[in-house]
Amino acid sequence: MITVRAEAAADIPAVHRVNELAFGRPGEADLVDALRAAARPYVSLVAADEGQVVGHIFFSPVTLEAEDSACAILGLAPMAVLPEYQRRGIGSQLVRAGLEECRRIGCDVVVVLGHPEYYPRFGFVPAGRKGLQCEYPVPDEVFMVVELKSDALSGQGLVKYRPEFREV
Ligand SMILES: CC(C)(COP(=O)(O)OP(=O)(O)OC[C@H]1O[C@@H](n2cnc3c(N)ncnc32)[C@H](O)[C@@H]1OP(=O)(O)O)[C@@H](O)C(=O)NCCC(=O)NCCS
Repeated sequence: MITVRAEAAADIPAVHRVNELAFGRPGEADLVDALRAAARPYVSLVAADEGQVVGHIFFSPVTLEAEDSACAILGLAPMAVLPEYQRRGIGSQLVRAGLEECRRIGCDVVVVLGHPEYYPRFGFVPAGRKGLQCEYPVPDEVFMVVELKSDALSGQGLVKYRPEFREV
């Protein structure tokens, strides 16, 4: 049975491995290590199968360049499920539990850069509709936002990820 829970210190090597295997390169695994060291607050959850870490999701703060922005925003990235465990709903479990945890720690807005067919099922909408632009030159539909509380978003403008993302 798959359980989703907060990452523990002992999970760190397994989380690195899951990210490396899912992405087929070390960049995202190294990014998680860098964010864990520097980003506050962060949310890091694992999916475990009988004690083995098979999936992982991470959220770290982004900034919104807007004069009246009073709202803390987290960015969902990266997310990874071991290739042999994909397409069984584990990623969905991680997103839902992750959004709950974001809400629990007081964050009401989450952005994501990802597949436009995947994230709307969790409530994400194109961020442009809410007046948010991404600092990276990406197609409009891949940058999405979800408000965990209605009308939580208090500003518009350019969203910037932490500097660690520039290394990937
Ligand atoms: C993205 C990922 C975490 C999803 O995990 P998962 O456990 O397979 O997710 P679920 O089983 O909940 O959902 C599978 C859905 O994701 C969609 N999906 C997964 N990868 C996709 C891709 N590359 N392009 C489009 N859709 C994709 C599938 O279409 C599927 O949708 P369906 O339910 O309509 O069939 C996993 O595929 C993965 O680790 N991929 C490699 C790393 C990555 O790209 N991470 C995301 C960017 S940070």
